[in-house]
Amino acid sequence: MALLNILQFPDPRLKEIALPVEIFDQTLLNLIDDMFETMYEAQGVGLAATQINVQKQVIVMDISEERNQPIHLINPQIIKKENMIEWEEGCLSFSGVYGKVNRSQEIEIQFLDKNGKQKSLHADGGLLSACIQHEIDHLNGITFYDHLSPLKQQLLRKKLSKVKSRTL
Ligand code: NI
Repeated sequence: MALLNILQFPDPRLKEIALPVEIFDQTLLNLIDDMFETMYEAQGVGLAATQINVQKQVIVMDISEERNQPIHLINPQIIKKENMIEWEEGCLSFSGVYGKVNRSQEIEIQFLDKNGKQKSLHADGGLLSACIQHEIDHLNGITFYDHLSPLKQQLLRKKLSKVKSRTL
């Protein structure tokens, strides 16, 4: 297991597009393990492979309070989406800032597990649904920032520079 470096906005590599996983081997299992370790260490609820500069369609998530319900999604596809809600989101690539994004409340996805087995998942509202959409966006080179209005993007960049200067 190893901790991976999470790319920080505005790193242009966050715009890279992930390719479908075709080989289900030990390298993939190691990647998933490392992504979980990195996500838990950073206290995030989700992490997409593009955020650690790996252009593969791999997502790890855990939305439970107890941090004991790991979910991994490979080659996820949204096959149904219904009803919009506004959801306040953060992101491990934007530490300390948040923004409101419109998401579908109800989604159905198809994906593969780490053994290449086809699975489906129905998420009905709340964090799970928003988180899946947020992470699938990452695989397509899109961050929650891209969903904000130009004015809100500007405010977010200002806040981000303040957070950074406090950290230094
Ligand atoms: Ni994110």
